[in-house]
Amino acid sequence: MRNSSKTPKLAAALAVLTALLVAAPARTQSGASKKNLPWMNASLSADRRADLVLEQMTLDEKIQLVHGTGWGVLRDGDPVPPRSNLGAGFVPGIDRLGIPDINLADSAVGVRMAALESRYATLLPSALGLAATWDPEAAFLFGSVIGRELRDQGFNMSIGGGVDLAREPRNGRTWEYAGEDPLLAGTIVGQLSKGVQSQKVMGDIKHYAVNDQETGRDILNAVIGKRALRESDLLAFEIAITTAEPAGVMCAYNKLNGDFSCENDDLLNQVLKKDFAFKGWVLSDWDGTHSTKKAVLNGLDMEMPGDEFLGPALKKAIDNGEVPLARLNDMVHRILRSMFAVGVVDDPVVPRRVTDPFRGREDSEQIAEKSMVLLKNAGALLPLSASEVRSIAVIGSHADVGVLSGGGSAQVDAPGGNAIDPKPGTAEWQQPVYFPSAPLRYLRKQARNAKVDYDPGTDPARAAALAKSSEVAIVFVNQYMTEGRDNETLSLPDNQDALVHAVAAANPRTIVVLETGSTISMPWLDDVKAVLAAWYPGIGGAQAICNILFGEVNPSAKLPITFARSEADLPHPEIQGMQLVKKAEAEHRSVPSFDVTYTEGIQVGYKWFEAEKKQPLFPFGFGLSYTRYSYSGLKVDEKQRQVTFTVKNTGSRPGGEIAQVYAQLPSAAGEPFKRLVAWERLALAPGESKTITLPLTPLYLSIFDEQKDAWSLLPGEYKVLVGPSSADTPLAASLRIHD
Ligand code: BGC
Repeated sequence: MRNSSKTPKLAAALAVLTALLVAAPARTQSGASKKNLPWMNASLSADRRADLVLEQMTLDEKIQLVHGTGWGVLRDGDPVPPRSNLGAGFVPGIDRLGIPDINLADSAVGVRMAALESRYATLLPSALGLAATWDPEAAFLFGSVIGRELRDQGFNMSIGGGVDLAREPRNGRTWEYAGEDPLLAGTIVGQLSKGVQSQKVMGDIKHYAVNDQETGRDILNAVIGKRALRESDLLAFEIAITTAEPAGVMCAYNKLNGDFSCENDDLLNQVLKKDFAFKGWVLSDWDGTHSTKKAVLNGLDMEMPGDEFLGPALKKAIDNGEVPLARLNDMVHRILRSMFAVGVVDDPVVPRRVTDPFRGREDSEQIAEKSMVLLKNAGALLPLSASEVRSIAVIGSHADVGVLSGGGSAQVDAPGGNAIDPKPGTAEWQQPVYFPSAPLRYLRKQARNAKVDYDPGTDPARAAALAKSSEVAIVFVNQYMTEGRDNETLSLPDNQDALVHAVAAANPRTIVVLETGSTISMPWLDDVKAVLAAWYPGIGGAQAICNILFGEVNPSAKLPITFARSEADLPHPEIQGMQLVKKAEAEHRSVPSFDVTYTEGIQVGYKWFEAEKKQPLFPFGFGLSYTRYSYSGLKVDEKQRQVTFTVKNTGSRPGGEIAQVYAQLPSAAGEPFKRLVAWERLALAPGESKTITLPLTPLYLSIFDEQKDAWSLLPGEYKVLVGPSSADTPLAASLRIHD
């Protein structure tokens, strides 16, 4: 499989690049004399400027722009591009026309591969954690940190922006995505990408589409009906893409309904370019291009990372008329217009600034504090009193040295290196990496009158003994996830369930802090007093966790994903194809393509649980606070299509509440579940009420009519439900939509 061959190839290429970089010439491009070229007139539209450049380009120059230069070099013996910035991809610019190179870097949660040149990059919380903030402003900030640091390091394009829906919570990349709801995920990732582009760095949204599991990702065929697709996975992309207008969209490895995503006419030409009116370019996932003519005619604009199909083979196809020149011009136009639109031509990156780690850390911590979901707080054990608590047992998950991060191409290099020893037998790009933000250190600082001891949790009995002799026990548990493989179950690995059971049995004041990439099952939930979902919290993680545990910060996040009680309650109790792939790998055979049929269709996440009448462990949209809120006064304005209601903080602490609006469509829609249609994050002082009005956007109330191949707002009676979570909507009203 491609992903398994990626590491050695990448490592070899990087070794070559690193060696050559020592002798490489200065990497700035000559641009000064290009000021007078007609397309450098910034008052012209991006499209016009692109056309003016295109008119001057030779066929070879056009071909040069529509593919990368390989993981390092294209072919053995080729010269290394001297201006490559050691990211995941490089496209040399057209110097004589003043068009800069494109240096692309993986940057889902921070800039990847910074360590190669002793650069520093901020690790942000996981994208799933970001989605738990439900905060478009936090998402914009998240993106702007990435954009700022990309620019500082000489990159002008991000290849983060994952918005595949969490159909499969065991998907190894769940933490790179923004959860299970298309409106929430699309809004968050759209704002994130906008934040990247606010720094004049090109953004990207990926993996288009339905790359919802890693098992067999480059051979599987995702099978799903058109309506379900448009109302779920593709709606997330539609919202993100129309919000951000990103420079790029990365097509996925998998097939969708029979065709590879990177040569799928319906997906690329019809939906993305026609229906979503996407003006940027489609780049393939790394080695995800499979053909020349078919891919190009069906909508692919750039092959990454090399030129197997869109290099000499494309030139030949143009020469012999198999691919019209007009199509190549369109591909190049899309690339150039995006470069002009985002500002990378007018403001070329100059890698001369030192990334500001303090600013990054503050931004990251601020987002982390808004991202942590308090799932349980029996007897109001939390917040702990910093002055009163006398002894704390801190247990597990390397809490003495750091916090966990996710693995794969989204991994960021930890300052000072991994805080734990590498796991033997695990490839470097899939190593669990702990960042040096140690909860133990901050807990000791906060609990100034307490004896705070640490136990690694590897021996449950020993950990329980420490817990027994302490006033409070805080158990840190982890669920590691990485690109390239899925987690087989929702259970915590490494005997951690037994650890929590043992500690909880020894100490009735047990708090569990989750460092997880996705959801987990919790067989010990009834035995512990409090649970805090910290996700992968980033470089400010330890402070954020402590600030919440001690009440310096009132938790305000809500789940962007449903926690199932067990795998049995998921639409697919087993990951589709996993046994097939495992068997083939054990027998050292390649795996034949297989179907992953999404029989649950539109019913992703909470919609599935509601339609199937299953009780989740924790519902979508759920999250506790140290204060309380009440909801009242729902009014629906049918003419303006908007809702108004009041939220009051009835407790004694200031807090942030995420008020959610759901709609249940008329029965003609055939959708036996409600859907999220709006929300607002409100800051409320004790006793304060706010009355808010939110729009009921027609798209979010519509169904996709397969016959008409268009969205349709059905006439009839809609139920509007408002409240603090998908499972708790105390306010209800109806909305009539007339023919
Ligand atoms: C991943 C992409 C990533 C690319 C470059 C691929 O294997 O699926 O998300 O951007 O590699 O590293």
